[in-house]
Amino acid sequence: MAFEELKERHAAMWGSAPFERVAGTLADMHECVVQTMGGGEGVAWLDVGCGTGELAFMAAATGADITACDLAPNLVETARRQAAERGLEIPFEVGDAEALQYGDASFDIVTSSIGAIFAPNHAAVASELARVCRPGGRLGMTAWTSAEGGVDKFFEIIGSYAPPPPPGAGIPFEWGEPEHCEELLGPFFELEITSHNTPWPFETPDEMWDLMSESFGPIKTLLGVLPPERAAAFKADMFEFLESERTADGIDLDRPYNLIVGRRRS
Ligand SMILES: C[S@@+](CC[C@H](N)C(=O)[O-])C[C@H]1O[C@@H](n2cnc3c(N)ncnc32)[C@H](O)[C@@H]1O
Repeated sequence: MAFEELKERHAAMWGSAPFERVAGTLADMHECVVQTMGGGEGVAWLDVGCGTGELAFMAAATGADITACDLAPNLVETARRQAAERGLEIPFEVGDAEALQYGDASFDIVTSSIGAIFAPNHAAVASELARVCRPGGRLGMTAWTSAEGGVDKFFEIIGSYAPPPPPGAGIPFEWGEPEHCEELLGPFFELEITSHNTPWPFETPDEMWDLMSESFGPIKTLLGVLPPERAAAFKADMFEFLESERTADGIDLDRPYNLIVGRRRS
């Protein structure tokens, strides 16, 4: 099933905001992926849905030869600029997780940190991640998992103000279900799935809102199209939720995720 129009909208949405300001809140997830995968001198490593490149920069520090791609041209531009500022030569390219432009078995390691989960055709993503990974090579993918409150509720509120996805489009949170991963990735990879959390602390809902309304494409895009009263209701729902997560030390949003590690079958 093709979702070309939806993906064009996704590319514009993710690219509408400076995601590099949000990526820092994911640093411990990036570290978890890079430490688990290892890398090392001369290892061919592809990062899919790389955003503004932060995981790729960490992976490059292991000595690996990194290639990275993302659906959103604007974010790829930012990744290239950030690489140049760091003196790194990493080919950052526009690319779709459902139809990767790389040859079969080209990489020793293939990663995607909460990136490929956003592509609508999950079966195509699984077979593409497998196709470009060499036999014996490894996959490292992260996916948000559902839990009471936390990141699940955060995306639920965004979804309740966004247009519904077209029929048949996969839901990102499905990748947080081990059975879903086994069904789609299991034929290609021996899988090991572990649970993690990357909590997100901030002091007030305003602090979070200021960052996300400017720098997180899905929220910025929504605010650009919602009529004023819907935009106000969206903000109020988000604030109500964030206040419900408040503790004596401020707000610490749980962001549970699974790390899906796979060894490519021969
Ligand atoms: C939450 S961001 C994560 C970015 C990065 N992996 C990180 O951890 O910082 C999700 C990323 O997935 C990308 N993405 C969404 N759909 C995609 C697709 N079909 N193919 C490749 N990338 C995609 C978006 O453009 C965005 O950069």
